[in-house]
Amino acid sequence: MKKLKTVSDIDELADLLAEARSTGKSVGLVPTMGALHKGHLSLVSCCNAGNKVTIVSIFVNPEQFNDPEDLESYPSNLDRDLQMLREADCDIVFVPSVKTIYPVPDMREFDFGPLDKIMEGRFRPGHFTGVARVVSRLFEIIKPDRAYFGEKDFQQLAVIRKMTGMLQLPVEIKACPTVRESDGLAMSSRNVLLSSGQRKNAVLIGQTLRAAAQKKGMAVWELKKWVADTINENPFLDLEYFEIVDSKDLQPAADGERVKQGLTGCIAVRVGNVRLIDNVFFYNFEAL
Ligand code: PAJ
Repeated sequence: MKKLKTVSDIDELADLLAEARSTGKSVGLVPTMGALHKGHLSLVSCCNAGNKVTIVSIFVNPEQFNDPEDLESYPSNLDRDLQMLREADCDIVFVPSVKTIYPVPDMREFDFGPLDKIMEGRFRPGHFTGVARVVSRLFEIIKPDRAYFGEKDFQQLAVIRKMTGMLQLPVEIKACPTVRESDGLAMSSRNVLLSSGQRKNAVLIGQTLRAAAQKKGMAVWELKKWVADTINENPFLDLEYFEIVDSKDLQPAADGERVKQGLTGCIAVRVGNVRLIDNVFFYNFEAL
């Protein structure tokens, strides 16, 4: 096991990184908001495999929470996170304060075009601006060679790729597959907020996506309706959206089109006060 270094100060981090770079070591970054689970750890292991030094950042970024209650209830357990990172062979964990990330208010706006007008962008106004602010700031502070993100947050991944291109940041963006619980529920820090009844019923989200991926040849509108009906029939679940989009540019497929390879189904469901998202690639049966 490596010795995990915990750093909150930018200068201390810069010294550690300068030392690594002087010996030609590549640096990989895994940005997180803590309350870690195996999904996060899979990013750490991808990062370890591709870089000499792995940094995980833990920062609950207030800028990306459009709902103050969601920020308030966001889970955190730093001691447990640090233990998990030690066991995962992470080198450095960066735990900055709000002042460190935003020494002055960050007023930057980003024009992502149509990318953030749909799905999460539509239902969580300002969310992706907040994500872009924090991720670009982390890239500026750490200057990683590579950064690792989960396909679970499929639209976030696209937004980050777009932001990196727009700002011409020299960081390679790597995507890692969604890690699931044994019953198919996508792992999420918010899962711990579910009551046991909600947790049991939340399994329907992954199951519905899996079933949707098996309904070959359906029209987009028909599959959207089937998913909406299936989710909303369950009293614990309330569908926010199910969108079928092009996997590359995330633009919605036309209702009359048949569902085909190259499309992705993205879902957001409210389970009580908890909002969960997930997605499925058509047709990739291994994924779920
Ligand atoms: P957070 O939700 O903590 O997620 C950190 C990273 O872990 C993201 O790239 C996310 O896609 C990935 N991840 C979460 N659950 C996963 C799962 N089940 N399988 C695989 N990867 C998973 O996403 C954020 O934080 C923030 O928006 C952040 C990028 C850190 C900016 O604040």
